[in-house]
Amino acid sequence: MSGDARSSAFEIELRLLLEAIFLRFHYDFRSYSMASLRRRVTAALSALGCETVSALQEKILHQPETFTALLQYLTVQVSDMFRDPAFFLAFRQHVVPELATYPSPRVWIAGASSGEEVYTVAIILAEEGLLDRALLYATDINPDAIAKAKAGVYAEERIPTFAANHRAAGGKQPFERYYTSAYGHAAFDRKLRDRVVFADHSLATDSVFAEVQAVTCRNVLIYFDRTLQERAVGLFRDALSRRGFLGLGAMESLQLTKQSSAFEPFLPELKWYRRS
Ligand SMILES: C[S@@+](CC[C@H](N)C(=O)[O-])C[C@H]1O[C@@H](n2cnc3c(N)ncnc32)[C@H](O)[C@@H]1O
Repeated sequence: MSGDARSSAFEIELRLLLEAIFLRFHYDFRSYSMASLRRRVTAALSALGCETVSALQEKILHQPETFTALLQYLTVQVSDMFRDPAFFLAFRQHVVPELATYPSPRVWIAGASSGEEVYTVAIILAEEGLLDRALLYATDINPDAIAKAKAGVYAEERIPTFAANHRAAGGKQPFERYYTSAYGHAAFDRKLRDRVVFADHSLATDSVFAEVQAVTCRNVLIYFDRTLQERAVGLFRDALSRRGFLGLGAMESLQLTKQSSAFEPFLPELKWYRRS
């Protein structure tokens, strides 16, 4: 078989797999970027002991518990606290003062993964005296990631990076104040998540659930195709109150979306936008 024929068989099997996942598990990956899905499914094949994508499809349909393992490959879970510190410094200096004008500001962290971004936002709001009256929604489609986010326990070896990023993002308190170390792990202070609602929510299939004054959705849209990016940004537009803020990841932009007219640049070089 030629290389071309092989790759087109892979492509067909991949589309069938995504359809099967949607029909059986109601997770919709059909509008994700194909280049990234190809890589992720290829990695899943060897990890799950399947020779072909069709074999993988059969496996998840007849042993549905395998889908949980596949989901870890289909979703990218890389995250960090105060990732891109300049973004969070801008949040602290320019967005938080506006949030402070609301009696109970609400922030939606969409695609929150294992919670690093949630604790980042919570720490900034705490340091700026706003956490007690704020409400944070942390959503993701990966239940394992949500469970980790709720637990707030991270490998201690990650602390030096978290702490350096915290400083670079204008951190006002010593970082050690936010966690307790034990057995190589750092357990973050429960108070940081008192004001957080963790929920399973998909930008691909679910609708808006609350009005918020700021949304951060970082390093999620890059995995979506154009149609799904439009859908997600449409949800943010509908969720945001007038003049609400939207922050994206370093590789993401509103420039090419049809929804861009609903937003105006706020600090576009740092990926902060504002609802017009
Ligand atoms: C690379 S992580 C980004 C984590 C964090 N926002 C950051 O920037 O560090 C991407 C996250 O998006 C989530 N995700 C993927 N598709 C999603 C969807 N349709 N709806 C909500 N979250 C999704 C994944 O499960 C994963 O946790």
